[in-house]
Amino acid sequence: MSQNHQDSAWGKLQTMLPQWVHESKAYTEDGQVAAYIPELARAPQNVLGICLMDAAGDTVVGGDHDFRFTLQSISKVFTLILALMDRGEEVVFSKVGMEPTGDDFNSMLKLELVEPGIPFNPLINAGAIAISSLMAGSDPAAQTQRILQFFRDVADNPTLAINHAVHRSESDTAHRNRSLAYFLKDNGVLSGDVEDVLDVYFSHCSVEATCTDLARMALVLANNGVDPIRNLRLMPRRYVQIAKTFMITCGMYNASGEFAMNVGLPAKSGVSGGILTMVPGQYGIGVVGPALNRKGNSTAGVHLIGKLSQEFDWSLF
Ligand code: DON
Repeated sequence: MSQNHQDSAWGKLQTMLPQWVHESKAYTEDGQVAAYIPELARAPQNVLGICLMDAAGDTVVGGDHDFRFTLQSISKVFTLILALMDRGEEVVFSKVGMEPTGDDFNSMLKLELVEPGIPFNPLINAGAIAISSLMAGSDPAAQTQRILQFFRDVADNPTLAINHAVHRSESDTAHRNRSLAYFLKDNGVLSGDVEDVLDVYFSHCSVEATCTDLARMALVLANNGVDPIRNLRLMPRRYVQIAKTFMITCGMYNASGEFAMNVGLPAKSGVSGGILTMVPGQYGIGVVGPALNRKGNSTAGVHLIGKLSQEFDWSLF
């Protein structure tokens, strides 16, 4: 039995989680499932699931925790870390900045407004596309395979795979992302073939996972790059520090300030409704609720994490 099983927070979590999930589920009605990627529009509106994992690998799950969804923008945290591991800070930050935009995640606005024409940060679409171009590997297939292997290592799940229907759907309809990528190419930010870079980007967004996978991946970040279950360092502490800083400032897009104020934890959302978050040093947390608010974050998911943070006083601030 782990330490956590004896402590009162874990016990309260086990007892109260079903009720909190039930209460938060009502908020699925306030959101809408993403429709701009047609395959994502098939997700059910009223799903809400969560998994919390402690350093011993013990879990508390609630709601639709088995629901499968694609990582979408959550993948950007891990491609950023991989790019830092492959190329180092100097190269990465010659291609993307360190600041939030305050704009929508797929906005083009600031690429032309502010010199030197690089994306403001690696978590907006333009920034993540630039990061995709930095992956080690001789061609897009090799780069994609390297990313997938990294995700599998971090999640400790060799079965993680790309959902090809989502990949195709995203590629077929990615007019905005194509515009961003060609614009970046013209600005000299992207090297290589634009369609190849986009294919790598669509691939990592289309990796399918569950809340438990997210919680497992988050647990590694919560422990500064060491998987506490296998006692294995998977990434340098400095790069986790960079990733977590971006999660606080830009992880929930232009709702990051509000989320920092109400929840106060590093987090990253995706348009499939996933949210990866953590209580540093303690828990990895994965949440899914496909109904989104106007800013692209899960309505019920944000509510549920907010409730937990308040109950257990998890805010870092
Ligand atoms: O490129 C896109 O639009 C999606 N593959 C990812 C966007 C996303 O998840 C933004 N999240 N809130």
